[in-house]
Amino acid sequence: MNFTGKDFLRILDFSEEELRYMLDVAKKFKEMKHAGQNHKYFLNKNIAIIFEKTSTRTRCAFEVAGYDLGMGVTYLDPTGSQMGHKESIADTARVLARFYDGIEFRGFKQETVNDLAKYADVPVWNGLTDSCHPTQALADFMTMEERLGSLPGKTLAFVGDTHNNVSNSLMAMSAKMGVNYIACGPSALRPSDEIIAECQPIAEKNGCTITVTEDIKVLSGVADAIYTDVWLSLGEDKEKWGERIQQLQAYRVTMEMMQMARPGAIFLHCLPSFHDLNTSIARDVNEKFGLTEMEVTNEVFESEQSAVFDEAENRLHTIKAVEYLTLVDNK
Ligand code: CP
Ligand code: NVA
Repeated sequence: MNFTGKDFLRILDFSEEELRYMLDVAKKFKEMKHAGQNHKYFLNKNIAIIFEKTSTRTRCAFEVAGYDLGMGVTYLDPTGSQMGHKESIADTARVLARFYDGIEFRGFKQETVNDLAKYADVPVWNGLTDSCHPTQALADFMTMEERLGSLPGKTLAFVGDTHNNVSNSLMAMSAKMGVNYIACGPSALRPSDEIIAECQPIAEKNGCTITVTEDIKVLSGVADAIYTDVWLSLGEDKEKWGERIQQLQAYRVTMEMMQMARPGAIFLHCLPSFHDLNTSIARDVNEKFGLTEMEVTNEVFESEQSAVFDEAENRLHTIKAVEYLTLVDNK
């Protein structure tokens, strides 16, 4: 299996075997990290991580994974580079590729990360765009495997804004890993026909199903994991809160919903999450609309079934696997 020099832009760019291998390498890195074992393999390499949008997990995971592998890391914040406003993506890519061995990008448009990858002759990693969040899906599946024992034949239900970036990558990863995927949310926020058309044949080949439904009862007795995400993603217009609350309130993950799932079902969330009033955004929404919890109740978030902090930790190990596999010198 050779990933050296490859970009990591979408889950769908990789074969089943390659994704499986990434998860296995991530598992090894987790063991090494927990055992305190040195893995500074890349002492002479450097990477740049570029963020047009804010981040806690993705930024820290790329950065710490880089340090753990012995690399130098440069963080460029949403205002810290000329990219896009004073210098084209193509020019920036060609400059950075002269300095760095790999480039991570989080931003608004998938085309930007695609362009970076086109013009930079070093690996480019997608740290979230409007259309997908592929490193998140790797961590989610690593967590599901840890908690549920195995992946093929299991059922993952994403409840809420099913047309968002996280759901798109989860549908792709489910199809690749033989996991049944239920996208459960209002029809106005259903996954695009394009993503379904891309994933459906892959799911069929791997003996699993993709279900798109408005009906929460479809989860009953079948979901091994219930996943949700914020109702309004980074970069979306704040004016949409009212409409989204109306559309999505019925899809809040509650204890009743968790009890409908299979015994032992887990709760997943990419985070950050609005499960209480301890953030300024949640307080603003509370003042305007009266909600005290949004996409998930605090009870579920804090429950034994919730695997959200394992999932957050696994961002580090999976991102490290992506950095390692695409940068390792295989010659
Ligand atoms: N899950 C995730 O991508 O978190 P950040 O936005 O903090 O990076
Ligand atoms: N859908 C969310 C995911 C954040 C990790 C967003 O794009 O803001």
